[in-house]
Amino acid sequence: MELDIKVPQHVTIIMDGNGRWAKMRGEERLFGHKAGTDSVRACVEYAVEKGIRYLSLFAFSEENWERPAAEVEGLMQLMLKAILEETPLFQKNGIRFRVIGDFSRLSDKLKCEIDECMKLTEQNGVLDLIVFLSYSGKWDILQAVNRYIADNKDDLRPITADTISSYLSTAGIPDPDLLVRTSGEQRISNYMLWQTAYTEYYFTEVLWPDFRKPHFQAAIEAFSRRDRRFGKVK
Ligand code: IPE
Ligand code: IPE
Ligand code: MG
Repeated sequence: MELDIKVPQHVTIIMDGNGRWAKMRGEERLFGHKAGTDSVRACVEYAVEKGIRYLSLFAFSEENWERPAAEVEGLMQLMLKAILEETPLFQKNGIRFRVIGDFSRLSDKLKCEIDECMKLTEQNGVLDLIVFLSYSGKWDILQAVNRYIADNKDDLRPITADTISSYLSTAGIPDPDLLVRTSGEQRISNYMLWQTAYTEYYFTEVLWPDFRKPHFQAAIEAFSRRDRRFGKVK
């Protein structure tokens, strides 16, 4: 069974359920976000072990800015701490770290650390770990269209899907093969709207802070059993 499993090239995860996990324990939501960082570590390890080439994680949506200020601040602090702590491990394991999203709303300090870690790990080629931060799918499509217009304003012509793809913030990254969402919610919540046109979806009831390698393995096995047809007849 293990032997002939199809390993997806790009797995993306909507890491959901931290708040509920904390609440079940009578704790503040931030306690759940902190616990969720252990799940991230486990998933990165799993991805490296299995030879998954791209692992992307939805960490903070454009809509999440509307959460209470203390939670937003706590999440940004956690991100900063994780980058500072994990950078040596990225280097050791050949992980290229990337962040995608609307940077204009991030603090200078966080932007600086993100930039530094991205530059430092740019040449690593084992796994691309991509964090979507301050991101939304509609934002991405809008920024792509607006940049295209700015670049071509003197000679605007009808465009192709490939042109849109090349202006998205994910340009150069293959579209996700598998999207995992934890915590039982079955929606896309304004994540990669364009890029997931033919992605396989996998929903699990497991809350993000409980998500570990066996859960990841179950998702990969489910993916492996799917028959992807891309609209064609096989
Ligand atoms: C996911 O967990 C993390 C973020 C969206 C930042 P939630 O914070 O959404 O947890 P629930 O869905 O309220 O349980
Ligand atoms: C989606 O989770 C965003 C992230 C996991 C970063 P949310 O918890 O914000 O989504 P909704 O509100 O349940 O759709
Ligand atoms: Mg949620």
